[in-house]
Formats: sequence, C-alpha cells, structure tokens
Amino acid sequence: MADTQPTEATDEWWRGAAIYQVYVRSFADGDADGTGDLAGVRSRLPYLAALGVDALWFSPWYPSPLADGGYDVADYRAIDPAFGTLAEAEKLIAEARGAGIRTIIDIVPNHVSDRHVWFQAALAAGPGSVERELFHFRPGRGENGELPPNGWRSQFGGPAWTRLPDGDWYLHLFAPEQPDLNWDHPSVRKEHEDVLRFWFDRGVAGVRIDSAAMVAKDPLLPDFEEGRDPHPYIDRDELHEIYRSWRTIADSYDGVLIGEVWLPDAERFVRYLRPDELHTAFNFDFLACPWDAARLRASIDLTLAVHAPVGAPATWVLANHDVTRTATRYGRADTGFDFKTKAHGIPTDLVVGTRRARAAALLTLALPGSVYLYQGEELGLPEVEDIPADRLQDPMYFRSGGTDPGRDGCRVPLPWSGDAPPYGFGGERLWLPQPDGWARYTAEAEQADPESMLTLYRTALDLRRAEPGLGEGPMSWLDSAGEVLAFRRDGDFACVVNLSETPVDLPGHRQVLLASGPLGEDGRLPRDTAVWLRLGE
Ligand code: NOJ
Repeated sequence: MADTQPTEATDEWWRGAAIYQVYVRSFADGDADGTGDLAGVRSRLPYLAALGVDALWFSPWYPSPLADGGYDVADYRAIDPAFGTLAEAEKLIAEARGAGIRTIIDIVPNHVSDRHVWFQAALAAGPGSVERELFHFRPGRGENGELPPNGWRSQFGGPAWTRLPDGDWYLHLFAPEQPDLNWDHPSVRKEHEDVLRFWFDRGVAGVRIDSAAMVAKDPLLPDFEEGRDPHPYIDRDELHEIYRSWRTIADSYDGVLIGEVWLPDAERFVRYLRPDELHTAFNFDFLACPWDAARLRASIDLTLAVHAPVGAPATWVLANHDVTRTATRYGRADTGFDFKTKAHGIPTDLVVGTRRARAAALLTLALPGSVYLYQGEELGLPEVEDIPADRLQDPMYFRSGGTDPGRDGCRVPLPWSGDAPPYGFGGERLWLPQPDGWARYTAEAEQADPESMLTLYRTALDLRRAEPGLGEGPMSWLDSAGEVLAFRRDGDFACVVNLSETPVDLPGHRQVLLASGPLGEDGRLPRDTAVWLRLGE
C-alpha cells in the first residue's frame, strides 16, 4: 500500500530536512556568564555540522524580559544583549550557511512583551487611545468594571485578563507580561510583514510561527462555550488570509514558513498547509502518541493521508522546549504527552525510556518528510526533575500555584564535557542548574562511545542523507505482527520497530544498516528496538 506519492525532484530542501532546535540560553555559553549565547553556538557549529543537520531553528533570540523564556519579545529586530548583537547573528547565519546549515528563526505574532514600545505607549496613552487599539483593551464587567470582560483563561492558568490602575483590562492568552495583539488592526499586520522581510533580508531561510492558530480573535470577544464553533480564539478562518500574505513574502525570498499549530482535528490542521499558506507545521499528534504500535501507526497513516491532498510534507517531532524529554516520557507507564499530565515524581525507568527513545529516533528518521530534533535529544538527556523551587523560571510553574512543574526540566543547559557541572557549558552559576550525574551524557563522552545516543543520531542522520529512499517520498507498510511497525521506503530500505514484549523475526534482508540496540543471537529483534535494513535475499 503506497501511502504517499513520490514528489518530483526538487530543491525544496525543507521537504525532507533534519532540523535542530537551538534554545540559545541553554545551548553553549561563549562568554562564561552562565547563559548560552550566539558565540557559544558559533563555537559549536562544527559539532552541529558533524551531527548532520540541515537547519537550525532558534527559539526567540530577541531582547526579552524573560517572563516566558523569550516568548515575550520586546524588540523583533534585535538580539538580546545576553546573547550577542545583530551583527553577530548575521555572522552566525552566514557561517552556518557556509557549513551547509540553514537558519530558521522564531516569530511570535500573537503577543509582545509588556516592555515592547507599543505596549508601553498604550499604557501611557490611557483608555480610549489609538495606542490601545493595537491590543485588546476593554472595560470590565460588573458595576464598577471589577470583573474581567469575559471568562477566558490563560494557557498558563488563571484569567486571561489583567486590570490596569486606570480601570482598563487587557487580554493575554499567556502570561500578563505577554499582551495579545489585535490582528484586526492594519498596523499589526504591516509590522509583522516588515519583520519577516527584515530577517529574510539577513539571510534566514525560514520562520517558525509561534502559537500560529491563536492569533485571530472574535472581535466581540464572546465568552467561551464548550463546542461552540467557531472558537473565539483558536483556529479562526481569518488566520488563513494572514498566512497567505506571509507566504507571498516568504516566496519572494524562497523562505519557508513553519507553523506551531496545536489542533486536535487533523483536517483543520492541514488547512494551514494549503499550497498558498504555510509550508509545513509541527505534527503534534505524533508527539503526543504513547509508545504503542497501533496508536503510532494510526497517527502515521492519518498524518500522511491528510497531508497528501495539500501536497505538504509531513513533519515528525518527538520533543521540544515545551514537553517532557523523550527518554523520561518513554520510561513511564503513561508514555503519551499531554500538557495536563505533565508532572514530576512519576516512577520512571530511564533504561527502558532510553531504549525506546533510541528506537523512536530510528522510526522518526525513517518516516517520509522532515524531522525536528530538540537540542540534547541527540545526547539522550532525561528531564531534570529536581531543580530547586527557588531556581525555577517557567511561568507555568508559578501561574499554576506550583501544581504544574513547568518546562524548565527540559531546558537545562547542555553538558559538553567533563565530570561535574557546568560540564563545559561555560560559566559557574548557570541560569538553570544542571544535575550531578550528567558526565555520561556529555557530547565529549558520547562522541567517543560507539554505543551512545550521539553516535546513533550521527550515523542515522548520515545514512538518511545517503539513502535515496529516505526523507520525502513514498512508504508502504510491510506485513508484521500486531505490535511491530515495519515499513519500506523507496528501493530496498526498510525500518522495523518492535514495540511488543518479546523478540520478533525480521523480514528477509541482505544487510542490517543500523540498529538502535543489539539484536538477539538468533538474529531476532528484541523489544523496544528498531532496525534499518536493506531488504532482499
Ligand atoms: C509556544 C511556545 O513554544 C511556548 O514556549 C510559549 O510559552 C508559548 N507559545 C507562548 O508564546
């Protein structure tokens, strides 16, 4: 059964790319102040080139008061001084390109930082001013306006409205320091289009669009009612017109638009990927799947089926800066991902989790389309669950009153070398503390170990580039037992993943190209193990 049609030969690199997410504060620290920076990234370009990735996606690198890890942007045309300068970003973009690596930046259109000049001007100008029209300011309800304009809740918990001393309320779907922009206002549209051009002019190859499905709001700001369609602020039809205009700009630079689109409905999701809209979007359905063959297979089938008619390539993501690290997640009884179940202190078997993370790496790298890798995943880092409360930074933790541990545990600075913190990261007191016991996860240690996660990723990324059937293209399922995923790519390449409890036979093959763990002496594939094969006698 062919699930996807082969696409014509194309220079559309992004259709099958391996893209590495850099969370700058935690990647590498060039000036030893405990915070990662652009100098750190530049010094590690050889590492990234050796890893074999095609592009880097930088989480927001703009000046930010860091109320939400940089997703509260104070100035979209500059670099946070803690990270470096605009000139340095330009150098980095050029150097990376010289090493064969493209740059993708993160644009945050839904909201700005409360320190952004627009919001500061709106605060100063007062109720009823034109400056406030760029945001969603409203009087309150109740006799004295003491109640919020509606009952919307912030994604981080608590009300989505904050009242100012002058009596007006303003909307923030995230933290109060992240006021939502009013996308019905032409200046908001124009500004973002200019910002896109600004970065494309500096050589970036693509843009990741934050919270892409939440940007447009029902202008009447009605109360949210379960099942009400359309939703007052998620997946509204007006968004498509906004992204069409962005596509025109991106096309004029050969740039790529990548949407962060969390939507449960796959049919609605792919509407963003119609030929004149976004090029690709993160496939969160796959990320949220538990370690379960039937669920994963259903997600893969659905993904390919809905992407085919719009001609957009699928994407495969196991982790990012918002979710529990893969090795930890797969080491738990409930291996799926759901923001509501994000918690610490859940019994975790890291041996099992790591074994599965290795198998999942080979699975995702063999699927048709592009793949995203979150920094540290290639080292097999676990979630850090014991960051002292007084060092936590994430508003999710604070706004939930501490009931949600937040996302700091997957944002801890990377270990590069040595036996103890800061593991060659740079600096003494890091912005988030690293745990003891990470010596075995350092890039230095893993580089020297043929069995390490790093070696697995390097070898797999290398093979993925060399194998003509990998990346975008057709795939077809091979017959297999219930809890085994086995599929063939163009030519004689096959991937087999055993999610059952017992070893299974492999299909007839000439060669084992790569395995995520040792095969049995009888040549069978053990549980939680994946293998890449050259089929044939
Ligand atoms: C999605 C980002 O990935 C997340 O880190 C951030 O908190 C929200 N959008 C708000 O910008």
